Amino acid sequence: MSTQFSFRSKYLEPSPLQDLLKKIKSLQADGREIINLGVGESFLNTPEAIERHAQKAINLHQTRYTPASGSIELRAGIAQRYRVKPEQVVISNGAKSVATAVFWTLIDQDQPVLMPTPHYPPYFFGIKSLGGKVYLLECDKNFVPVTSEMERYLQALLANGFVGLICLLLNTPNNPTGAVYSDSVVKEISQLAKRYRQGTAGIAVISDECYYPVGFEQSYLRFDPNAVIIGSFSKAYAMTGWRIGYGIMPAELAQKVTLYLETFSGCPNSIGQCAAVEALNQEPLIHCYAKQRELLWCWFKRLNIFCGGADGGFYAFPDFSPFMNEKNGINSILFAEHLLNQANVAVVPGIAFGDFDNCCRITCAVSENQLRAGLERIEKIIC
Ligand SMILES: Cc1ncc(COP(=O)(O)O)c(C=O)c1O
Repeated sequence: MSTQFSFRSKYLEPSPLQDLLKKIKSLQADGREIINLGVGESFLNTPEAIERHAQKAINLHQTRYTPASGSIELRAGIAQRYRVKPEQVVISNGAKSVATAVFWTLIDQDQPVLMPTPHYPPYFFGIKSLGGKVYLLECDKNFVPVTSEMERYLQALLANGFVGLICLLLNTPNNPTGAVYSDSVVKEISQLAKRYRQGTAGIAVISDECYYPVGFEQSYLRFDPNAVIIGSFSKAYAMTGWRIGYGIMPAELAQKVTLYLETFSGCPNSIGQCAAVEALNQEPLIHCYAKQRELLWCWFKRLNIFCGGADGGFYAFPDFSPFMNEKNGINSILFAEHLLNQANVAVVPGIAFGDFDNCCRITCAVSENQLRAGLERIEKIIC
């Protein structure tokens, strides 16, 4: 029987990361010892206090449905961190699920979404599957968005008679570049959004801040109380498998997003939510990768590799083009394959994140020893 899939589903593509993980697993099954510098999660375990709290929650049978937008306790805790009302907070199964709910609620057919590139691929494909029209914005050499470039797109849309909501999707600290947008850049973007909000088009700024600690202090929200913030416990507390993410947004939007969650996903898992409540009492693990980042920087410098961004979060996105050739591979996919096959080191090809076939993504969220060993292996192979 040939199955006819929905029109929407044709936009969903297999993630190169999943392909990479499959390849790594099969090489490991053959006895190869792979250093995985492609991963998107911390080498650290979830802090014990958080795990203990979750065990306690199981013992207390806190295993039933919570409200679809999250438990009152967790929403209140996150609201306090962001200095907003609990009605402005929704919780779901990781940042990805929250973002999906927000996109579903805001994006109609042909609706423009401006997104700096390189970009997080699931958002690109997810928005396209909802019918949104993605405009990829070129960044500066440090992978920071350029406000004048955003304005150029906004002006072109308005000149073409667009009336309605334009979404601007930011991501800082960035995946895959590790770029952190400075306060002055973030402020400029918020001022631009404010100016254009007063015109015929509405602007929704959605800021994915999954690699920041949970809280107001570094958030885009400081400059724009109307923004939608997407956050997560996955990266800040090494809790990727617990699947707890959240969104901060105007209450009216939170109500609609809650309807989506009630309809399509139901509540996030209750034990994960209890764990997240305890996480708010713990130090985030976000600063644990500074030495690794330093190590990477020294290595780039010594090998004369250009790398913009890499100021925070988990990743660096170096330009390997001086080393791409017939022997090492002439593009990012062949280059990454060469590293995996010959050096037993996994990195993610840059092409997965947009038109960046000269780059590969390397993570800082591994141990210093693993990173050092991985870089040594790469150097031996490519130089
Ligand atoms: C920018 C960005 N947003 C969202 C996510 C997904 O986070 P979560 O595990 O909370 O769904 C990731 C994970 O890699 C990410 O890099």
